[in-house]
Amino acid sequence: MDPLNIGFVGVGNISGIYFDILGNHPSVKVVGCADLDMDRAKDVANKRGIEAMATDALLSSPNIDLVLNLTVPKVHAPINLQALEAGKHVYCEKPLALTSPEARKQVELAQQKGLRLGCAPDTFLGAGIQTARAVLDEGAIGEIIDAHAFMLCRGHESWHPSPEFYYEQGGGPMFDMGPYYVTALVSMLGPVKRIAGSSKISYPTRTITSEPKKGKTIEVETDTHLSGVLDFTSGTTATLTTSFDVIGYNYPPIVILGSEGTLVVPDPNGFGGTVTLIRRSGTEEVPLRFRHDQNSRGLGVIDIAQALAEGRPHRASGELALHVVEVMEAFEKSSREAKHVWTTTQPDRPDAMPTAGL
Ligand SMILES: NC(=O)c1ccc[n+]([C@@H]2O[C@H](COP(=O)([O-])OP(=O)(O)OC[C@H]3O[C@@H](n4cnc5c(N)ncnc54)[C@H](O)[C@@H]3O)[C@@H](O)[C@H]2O)c1
Repeated sequence: MDPLNIGFVGVGNISGIYFDILGNHPSVKVVGCADLDMDRAKDVANKRGIEAMATDALLSSPNIDLVLNLTVPKVHAPINLQALEAGKHVYCEKPLALTSPEARKQVELAQQKGLRLGCAPDTFLGAGIQTARAVLDEGAIGEIIDAHAFMLCRGHESWHPSPEFYYEQGGGPMFDMGPYYVTALVSMLGPVKRIAGSSKISYPTRTITSEPKKGKTIEVETDTHLSGVLDFTSGTTATLTTSFDVIGYNYPPIVILGSEGTLVVPDPNGFGGTVTLIRRSGTEEVPLRFRHDQNSRGLGVIDIAQALAEGRPHRASGELALHVVEVMEAFEKSSREAKHVWTTTQPDRPDAMPTAGL
C-alpha cells in the first residue's frame, strides 16, 4: 500500500506527538506543515525535515492526501470545510466543531465528496478502553445498567500562561474534556438517545494567578459546571459531570455498573491505564489485551489510511464526532430549556481494534 501523504495545519503544543507517531508508521508519510505563525511552521518543518507551506498552498497541494487539523477549536470547522472543498481527506483535533450544525455540515460535505472525515480523540483505540469494551462485550458484569463519569478540577488559571480561552464560548470543561468521556462511553455503550442536563457558571469572573498574566480578570462566558444524565439507545443510563469549579476527589474517571459486577475504566484521556473488574467473587485487575498502551495520538489518522486501502469504515469518524458534539451541547440546552434534549444521530459503535494494533 502507498502511504497516505499528510499535511499538518497548526503546529502548536499537541503537534509533537502526532509527528512522533505518524513519522514512524509505514501507512502514512508526513510531507508538509502550515501555521498562522509562519516562523513556527518553518522551525517545525526544519526540525522534522518536511516543507513549510502557507495554509492555502497546503490545502491546494497535489502532494497532500489528508489534512491533519491541529489548530484551535474555533477554526476547526472552517479549515475542515476548506480542506474537504479542496478534495482532501481530513482528520481534526477535538472537538469537530463548536456547534452541531457546523459539525453536520462537515459530515455531509465529506459524504457528498466521497472523502474521509475523522476526529480526535483516538484514545478510545488504545489498550485501556479497548480492553474495557471487550470485557463488557463478554458479559463480565452482566446487564449494563448505569455508568458514572467525572472530570473535575478547579480550572486552569493557576498554571496555564493564557487560560482565557477555557472560559470563552466553545470552551468550558465539556467542550475541552467532554470529547474523551463521551467518545469512550459511546464506543463502549453505543449511541446516546437523550440528555437531561443541569449546568451553571459558579464564578462569573476568574482571576489569573499564573504568570505572565497574573492579576488579570476573566469574564466567564460559558458554563463551567455541567452535570447530566444520558439515556443510551441500549437502555443503559449514565451520569456525567464535567467541572472547572470544584476541587474534586480522586474518583475513577469512568465506572460502569452492571447486574453481575462493576467495571472501573481507565482515564479516557490516555491510551493505557488499569481496568478493574469487581464481582461478588472478588476484585481483579484485567490485563490489557490490546496494543497501544502509551500516548499514540495519531492512531486515528493511521486507521483512516488503512481503512482507505482496505475499503472499510474508519473508527474515529466524523459521524461519531458529530454525535459527541450533539451530546455535549445538549447539557447546556437541556439546562436552559428545562427539558430532555434528543440526539438526531445514532452512529454505529466503531469496530473493535485488532489485538495486534495498527
Ligand atoms: N495541548 C494539549 O495537551 C492538547 C491535548 C489534546 C488535544 N488538544 C487539542 O489540540 C488542538 C490544538 O491544541 P494545542 O494545545 O496544540 O494549541 P496551540 O495553541 O499550542 O497550537 C495551535 C496552533 O494552531 C495555529 N493556528 C491557529 N489558528 C490557525 C489558522 N487559522 N490557520 C493555521 N494555523 C492556525 C496556532 O498558530 C498554533 O500554532 C486543540 O483543538 C486542542 O483541544 C490539545
